[in-house]
Amino acid sequence: MHIHKLEKVWLIFGVAMLAVFLTIIGVSAFASGNQPPSDATLIDPTKVDQTKPFDKPGLTKIDDGVYEAVMVSQAFQFTPGDMEVPKGATINFLVTSKDVVHGFQIVKTNVNMMVVPGHINSMSYTFKEAGEYLIVCNEYCGNGHHMMATKIKVVDSE
Ligand code: CUA
Repeated sequence: MHIHKLEKVWLIFGVAMLAVFLTIIGVSAFASGNQPPSDATLIDPTKVDQTKPFDKPGLTKIDDGVYEAVMVSQAFQFTPGDMEVPKGATINFLVTSKDVVHGFQIVKTNVNMMVVPGHINSMSYTFKEAGEYLIVCNEYCGNGHHMMATKIKVVDSE
């Protein structure tokens, strides 16, 4: 069978690119531990107030520069409200909903989650720049949807 030289080049190029992409995905998943944000952790949405850690929503310092924000979304607010952390802090967010589907987007970052009742969403973000970060609900959840927002203040540490 005769294969044209250009076809051969193209075939080798295609197979090589496939190998490169699969290697990148493999290294990123297994060596660097990159995983898609998980919403596989379940919770009974009618018992959020009694289920740890959502019985005490809030911002807790868990290590040097590392915080955990346990947050509950409900029509039409986020609990806790405004939060403040020093510049450079990493916040691990744990978010769930008590009623309907809400959104959790931190404007100007890549944090954007769909908060589905019955699921616990988690995501981490390191705030490298000082300033005010707006958290908005970006899933239509009722007639107060447009008011559903809170803030994270990132301040220069002394
Ligand atoms: Cu909550 Cu829109």
